[in-house]
Amino acid sequence: MFSTFLAAASLLPLLGSSQQLIQDPGTAGPELELVHLYYDQWPTGVAVSSTGRKFSNYPGALDGNNTNNGSNGKYTIAELTGNSTETPFPNVEWNSPPGGAINYTTTPPTGANYQNHFIGAQSIVIDSLERAWVLDTGRVQDPNGTIVEATVGGPKLVGINLTNNTVFQTIVFPANVAPGDSYLNDVRFDLRPNITASGKGVAYITDSSIEGRTGLVVVDLGTGESWRHLQGSEFVAPATQFLAYVWGLPIYAFQAGQPLSFQGFGADGIALSADGEDLYFGGVGKRYLYSIPTARLRDNGQFSEALAQASVVSRGQKGVSDGYETDTNGYIYHGNAEQNAISFYNPVNGTSSLFLRDPRLNWVDTMSTGTDGYLYFTNNQLAFSPLVWPGTDRRRRPFALFRAKLPNNGTKPLLC
Ligand SMILES: *[C@@H]1O[C@H](CO)[C@@H](O)[C@H](O)[C@H]1NC(C)=O
Ligand SMILES: *[C@@H]1O[C@H](CO)[C@@H](O)[C@H](O)[C@H]1NC(C)=O
Ligand SMILES: *[C@@H]1O[C@H](CO)[C@@H](O)[C@H](O)[C@H]1NC(C)=O
Ligand SMILES: *[C@@H]1O[C@H](CO)[C@@H](O)[C@H](O)[C@H]1NC(C)=O
Ligand SMILES: *[C@@H]1O[C@H](CO)[C@@H](O)[C@H](O)[C@H]1NC(C)=O
Ligand SMILES: *[C@@H]1O[C@H](CO)[C@@H](O)[C@H](O)[C@H]1NC(C)=O
Ligand SMILES: *[C@@H]1O[C@H](CO)[C@@H](O)[C@H](O)[C@H]1NC(C)=O
Ligand SMILES: *[C@@H]1O[C@H](CO)[C@@H](O)[C@H](O)[C@H]1NC(C)=O
Ligand SMILES: *[C@@H]1O[C@H](CO)[C@@H](O)[C@H](O)[C@H]1NC(C)=O
Ligand SMILES: *[C@@H]1O[C@H](CO)[C@@H](O)[C@H](O)[C@H]1NC(C)=O
Repeated sequence: MFSTFLAAASLLPLLGSSQQLIQDPGTAGPELELVHLYYDQWPTGVAVSSTGRKFSNYPGALDGNNTNNGSNGKYTIAELTGNSTETPFPNVEWNSPPGGAINYTTTPPTGANYQNHFIGAQSIVIDSLERAWVLDTGRVQDPNGTIVEATVGGPKLVGINLTNNTVFQTIVFPANVAPGDSYLNDVRFDLRPNITASGKGVAYITDSSIEGRTGLVVVDLGTGESWRHLQGSEFVAPATQFLAYVWGLPIYAFQAGQPLSFQGFGADGIALSADGEDLYFGGVGKRYLYSIPTARLRDNGQFSEALAQASVVSRGQKGVSDGYETDTNGYIYHGNAEQNAISFYNPVNGTSSLFLRDPRLNWVDTMSTGTDGYLYFTNNQLAFSPLVWPGTDRRRRPFALFRAKLPNNGTKPLLC
């Protein structure tokens, strides 16, 4: 051992300082343009309208400092009104549940049950008719770090008319669709009239339930009915003993008062194929990408669950991702957190390819395809947050919203 070391050491002078080894270039793909800097609350999602309006959500369940306590002025949905300023959307009232987002009269405390106020929004998405939809989990962290369970009224889908910033529809999920330990994470819309009898289109939602009740939720936007599919299946569950790395640091899971655990987020990322016929989904605590024909999800008949489970397609491994997004090329964009990258899956050749890389990227949380031909995405340092071992906050403001030009003049696919 010692002599081997000496032999190796004696080679050192032979290696001139001019010797160049190749190294990771660190960057690839189209230029990243900075669109917005977040100095205030911690964002996850982003949505961009055809007129260039931009919106984000700030979930209280994943950052207790986003939780409205009745007097701290915290918001869970905002419009990005300047390059680094945000305004509660659609107004302060919707973001200010009276007495706060937590109901302390129950034991243990629970998410408040207001149907006309947001509790803890995990997503905002703009559909093909330019309407904004807010997905509320009904759950937030209390001041000691416990994520309280939702109560009926909290978990809901709220449609907002962007012409006059007014709520036009509220779909409250019943307890069998969004039980207290559900976590409705992200949503996509298909407004084609012919896919339902009611003719108003469908929303597809991932449930990434922290406690493991993962699944997909389907909503008929005409009747307001909703139902679950794939619950308890391996496709929506995280992998066991999952470990990812970001900037060299291991990503475990940390919750106040509980032992260190593995990061276990199930079904989270979601995207429709450009033609609306397939839904792509996958867990954050897992490297696989799945799809299912949307017809199987819309079916809620006697054999629909068996048929749904039998029709899931595994598209293979794609790296570690949070949100997904689609463009008119038919590509399914997904973050690639361990590579400081965004990649895309091409259903035509069944493989994932690199879209862009940048050393500033740490956690591409959510993406939104603009009608302007850009992919917008938040980069929010989630991997450095107190959710992750060792439970200390290594995030540094500002958090960022970037955009990059889509390939081949790709743009937002419209399903209406
Ligand atoms: C909220 O922010 C303050 C100040 O940065 C920090 O000390 C505190 O730990 C944060 N609380 C939560 C629940 O993250
Ligand atoms: C809410 O938060 C504010 C600001 O942190 C604090 O001053 C106030 O006491 C809190 N209110 C309650 C009811 O916890
Ligand atoms: C935002 O940034 C853009 C590009 O740097 C700049 O042109 C614009 O004036 C800025 N707007 C505000 C309100 O600061
Ligand atoms: C957090 O506080 C609530 C009361 O607000 C209590 O019910 C719960 O047990 C506490 N949890 C921990 C981990 O301290
Ligand atoms: C709080 O819980 C009580 C008991 O379940 C219920 O009657 C009340 O409506 C709840 N209030 C809110 C705002 O959630
Ligand atoms: C949105 O509001 C505008 C202005 O009142 C109205 O013309 C439009 O029809 C509304 N759109 C929807 C989808 O309700
Ligand atoms: C917004 O538009 C909708 C649909 O036209 C209408 O019902 C509603 O009253 C309008 N709200 C405001 C505040 O103008
Ligand atoms: C709905 O119409 C589109 C064409 O607009 C067609 O491609 C699709 O197959 C139809 N879907 C159903 C479920 O009939
Ligand atoms: C799959 O298709 C994409 C888009 O055309 C392309 O960039 C990629 O190189 C293809 N993958 C392979 C392995 O050929
Ligand atoms: C993109 O659109 C521009 C303007 O219409 C056109 O000149 C260009 O050829 C298109 N590029 C591709 C790759 O389709």
